[in-house]
Amino acid sequence: MDLLVVGSGFFGLTIAERAAAAGRKVTVIDRRHHIGGNAYSEDEPTTGIEVHRYGAHLFHTSNPGVWEYVNRFTSFTSYVHRVYTNHAGVVFPMPINLGTINQFFRAAYTPNEARALVSEQAGEFDAKTAANLEEKGIALIGRPLYEAFIRDYTAKQWQTDPKNLPAEVISRLPVRYTYDNRYFNDTWEGLPTDGYTAWLERMADHPNIEVRLETDFFDTAQPLNKRDTVGQLPIVYTGPVDRYFDYTAGALSWRTLDFEEEVLDVGDFQGTPVMNYADAEIPYTRIHEFKHFHPERADRYPTDKTVIMREFSRFAEREDEPYYPVNTPEDRQGLLAYRELTQGEKDVHFGGRLGTYQYLDMHMAIGAALSMWNNRLA
Ligand code: FDA
Repeated sequence: MDLLVVGSGFFGLTIAERAAAAGRKVTVIDRRHHIGGNAYSEDEPTTGIEVHRYGAHLFHTSNPGVWEYVNRFTSFTSYVHRVYTNHAGVVFPMPINLGTINQFFRAAYTPNEARALVSEQAGEFDAKTAANLEEKGIALIGRPLYEAFIRDYTAKQWQTDPKNLPAEVISRLPVRYTYDNRYFNDTWEGLPTDGYTAWLERMADHPNIEVRLETDFFDTAQPLNKRDTVGQLPIVYTGPVDRYFDYTAGALSWRTLDFEEEVLDVGDFQGTPVMNYADAEIPYTRIHEFKHFHPERADRYPTDKTVIMREFSRFAEREDEPYYPVNTPEDRQGLLAYRELTQGEKDVHFGGRLGTYQYLDMHMAIGAALSMWNNRLA
């Protein structure tokens, strides 16, 4: 074996694929029972509808190198992501755009009229001196839109009143003064035609790659553990950086998600893939309805059943899946300490969202792995 990769998410698989193509023998271990990390999906058994196990994953990128690379393993559908939100029993398009504004104020403002209205309402606070997230939100889009679409949704995401959240949590709130409600602005966007797992499996399908599942790097009962491998061969580690160092500089904090899946006896539950719930009375933040991610599979998917998933957000305990870095000042301190420690680890390369404590979209994780391969490992 020439290289050990810990974690089979997009970061780890990209490294493994590049190394295998360059003639190296690679072993990939993952503590889960499947490959693919958080991008893993599987068909719900009674309906055959593809469900993204760790929350909805939409691929998008403007990076030509990443786009060329991912197309070696999968083609993409023409899916374009759009999100709606339910506020006070009425559905509005997101992100906030001219359609949202005119529907909310029951008006027919032109782009300039809407701009003038929002900037007048935003005058209540100054974004530069805002004392907390609430003041910042109002300074960016004005109180009426903030209270309708941002306040309670943010409170549900963080389980904290936005008055008690730091202003830095949001740097901007996108408002579009057109009717364009495309969610992403990237050059390329789509979903893998045969699903995420087929894509991920193709990346790992090489005679030079061995994958061992249900294998934890910190379990000394299995041979490819930290104690017995570090210093013996190059390692790419994509698990949590604080766990690697036994939390010596403290545990970095994360938010996690709980998912509640249900198969319903209706052909169509909400008419769209993602519906946000902006109000405090509804405990979940959004509902995904997976069949709408693949309209091109209509002839394969049942017409009388659908799969929905309600999403709930909360702070992660140590045994929970870490999803979004919280990034408090203490976390930033801790991360600096861990970065220092990583310098001392001979031939261990830390990567991916857990290994670097950053939110990374899939195209960013793949791009970062390609750079690590080209610049440090090749
Ligand atoms: P990932 O977390 O995927 O992989 C790490 C792997 O390491 C895991 O499989 C884990 O089991 C393994 N591991 C950890 N510790 C280990 C140990 N001790 N021993 C062995 N294995 C270990 N992106 C995007 O582009 N569009 C989107 O729509 C979304 N949506 C989205 C929703 C939600 C809810 C989240 C949390 C994230 C997204 N993402 C996304 C981001 C996407 O999930 C992310 O880019 C990839 O997961 C990054 O891949 P990594 O390989 O870095 O980590």
